[in-house]
Amino acid sequence: MKPAVPVNDAERGPDRAPGVRRRNLIGGAGAIALAPSILSLARAADVPRFALGIASGQPRADGVVLWTRLTGSDLPERVEVRWELADDERFERIVARGEETAEAAWAHSVHAEPAGLAPARWYWYRFSALGDRSAVGRTRTAPAADTAATFDFAIASCQRFDVGHYAAWRRMAEEDLDVVMFLGDYIYEYASRPESVRQVEGGLVTTLAQYRARYATHKSDPSLQAAHARAPWLLVWDDHEVGNDYANLRGQSLEPDFAEQRAAAYRAYWEHMPFPKSVRPRGPDMRITGRLDWGRLARIHLVDDRQYRDVQACPKPGRGGSNTVMLGACPELLDPKRSLLGAEQERWLADGWDMSRPWNLLAQQTLMARFAWNEPAFGTGVYWTDGWDGYAPARNRLLGTVAERRVPGVVVLGGDVHSNYVADLKPDYDDDRSPVVATEFCGTSISSLSIPQSRIDAARTFNPHIHYGRGDQRGYVSFRLDAKQLEASLRAVDRPLDPASGVTTVARFVVDPAKPGAIAA
Ligand SMILES: [Fe+2]
Repeated sequence: MKPAVPVNDAERGPDRAPGVRRRNLIGGAGAIALAPSILSLARAADVPRFALGIASGQPRADGVVLWTRLTGSDLPERVEVRWELADDERFERIVARGEETAEAAWAHSVHAEPAGLAPARWYWYRFSALGDRSAVGRTRTAPAADTAATFDFAIASCQRFDVGHYAAWRRMAEEDLDVVMFLGDYIYEYASRPESVRQVEGGLVTTLAQYRARYATHKSDPSLQAAHARAPWLLVWDDHEVGNDYANLRGQSLEPDFAEQRAAAYRAYWEHMPFPKSVRPRGPDMRITGRLDWGRLARIHLVDDRQYRDVQACPKPGRGGSNTVMLGACPELLDPKRSLLGAEQERWLADGWDMSRPWNLLAQQTLMARFAWNEPAFGTGVYWTDGWDGYAPARNRLLGTVAERRVPGVVVLGGDVHSNYVADLKPDYDDDRSPVVATEFCGTSISSLSIPQSRIDAARTFNPHIHYGRGDQRGYVSFRLDAKQLEASLRAVDRPLDPASGVTTVARFVVDPAKPGAIAA
């Protein structure tokens, strides 16, 4: 890595846009006279080098991560990539710049880390390499930890490429958000069906080359690229970045070489996401758990419910992965030793709740509220074992700590279930007197499909703490947070198979930091 070079004076970027140079080489009558070697150079310069877009992430009060990955089949082993960060969209006031070496070993990805930036500021960034220059991205730093702040952000998850289009991303790119939180299932490993609305490349993904290709397919979408270019992202993964329903080092099909697959998947994830170099995976391990303080307003906790969990209880015979079982038939579900986050991460979270800020936002993967598929009394409740219901004592521990310490403004954010759920969180759903101690917004999918709405409606009877449940909406949830209130707007895509579809706000809720629970607004 080459360190960022701070630039004190206003300075212009490169005088000549790469497109201009290209026109000089191949355009007009002069091109006829060019030698063959020059012509092949011209063709090389014509290969788009930033076809997967750009991104930024992990905002801090003094820095942010800038990401891109070079494209083209003719890339050398190592390519120097220049980046610039400016105070203004026209790059008249460049505040930092540097060079990174994009290496074939890491899929020619770039993770630049400008440091020493001013807090609570918008910046613009771009890359250049091999005669091409990227689009311009907008990013920002977090407010300093001791300053007043407001926070506009959105949560999104589950963007299966071949079952829908990304109108949700296009709409989100028009919002004025400080941060986008992506809560898992950035890619799906499945092959497309012939009737799919659009096709992904190749078959079921298990190797590094295949994971890389699948990220490239997802990232080819212009609406997704626009959402990345508009604001910094915070990310956690879920299962499909590796394989459906994997748990720790166990795959759904009990693959003997699953650790190798997880290593390939984590490596490709890091290569394609705006994470810093410090979290680059080592073999099958990559730590995405983290925290960010947003001024005096909120502490954001990001946790990983895949890598460290105990394997799912009571799987189907000869299988790993999830099942849907009656509690009475699966006593393992009540084993307090089992954990979704793993003991170390559970402790990390319990020790890190912020008692001084009005809000604690917990960014995690899946629905935390109990979701019983039938009457839960007398052990007859039927539960899906992959989510928090498969680890109910761990959920009770987490929410019990929130209750005991009276942790302020806990809002749990999730995805995974391809449905919008707004719920009250209680330390013990079997006890009618158990208080509401936190609020949950589990946001629906960008494109992935859900179960029929009639099944959700039928189950609502058994889950009175769930105030809103819609599986027939694709979209995301947008939030506006200040010291007095959280306002959530559920945005749903009108026509999920139309990339140009409109997006409608279908519901609004507010939360008071001192009184957990969402109120319809
Ligand atoms: Fe998903």
